[in-house]
Amino acid sequence: MAVGIFDSGLGGLTVLNAAQKRLPDVNFLYYGDNARAPYGVRDAEDVYQLTKAAVESMWDKGCDLVILACNTASAAALRRMQEGGLPKGKRVLGVFVPLIEALTERQWGDNSPPREVAVQHVALFATPATVASRAFQRELAFRAIGVDVEAQSCGGVVDAIEDGDLILAEALVRSHVDALMRKMPHPEAAILGCTHYPLMEEIFQTALGPQVKVFSQGTLVADSLADYLQRHPDMYGAGEGGYFTTGDPSRVSDRATQFLRREITFQAA
Ligand code: DGL
Repeated sequence: MAVGIFDSGLGGLTVLNAAQKRLPDVNFLYYGDNARAPYGVRDAEDVYQLTKAAVESMWDKGCDLVILACNTASAAALRRMQEGGLPKGKRVLGVFVPLIEALTERQWGDNSPPREVAVQHVALFATPATVASRAFQRELAFRAIGVDVEAQSCGGVVDAIEDGDLILAEALVRSHVDALMRKMPHPEAAILGCTHYPLMEEIFQTALGPQVKVFSQGTLVADSLADYLQRHPDMYGAGEGGYFTTGDPSRVSDRATQFLRREITFQAA
């Protein structure tokens, strides 16, 4: 059995890590399209085609359920894939909804009408493609009213992380937080709307200040996955799992090992 976790590159490892801790008996198949990362500077059609091809390859490897642990892919491809019809017995889920349910203090699947919530000023940090899609604001509007969202498109951060240049990534995060705070000086909450950014979470928190509650997706998505698998015990899939990349397996393994602080070995997808 293996549940699929997909990202354009290394960011989905932040979701995988939390999912492995939350569900130690489940095998996971991780697929990073590192050769084509970053997705966040591509147009929606391109992201859709790349995501669809990767997910189909994960189905071929035995996954029945694939989590798009990538906000950019969730924004550009999830709804289109679901509406286009999935093969029998296959499912794809994204990463926005668990995050927005946490922000709006909703239980899983609470579809009651939008209402006022505790937070009113929310900073969203995401890739250029996710910001342009406005998918986060759309999902939020289904659940909450009166929330002011200021989005900051964080160019360069994913490239720096993929290249292992954490000094550059830190400098870029600080400058994106400064830019956001010029537009919204007192956010109450900040959303790390790209799965690469939790690798920089301390830098975001320090730059934002301790009064800002930072939401990132790892544990939220892991909890929601645990809940989903309990309700759908037929979705564990087949196959062994493992770590697959379209990039250079030895380079990607080194970076992953550095980020997760444990040995991770990728193989060619
Ligand atoms: N980790 C991905 C996300 O959550 C994206 C990045 C990218 O490839 O630009 O959006």
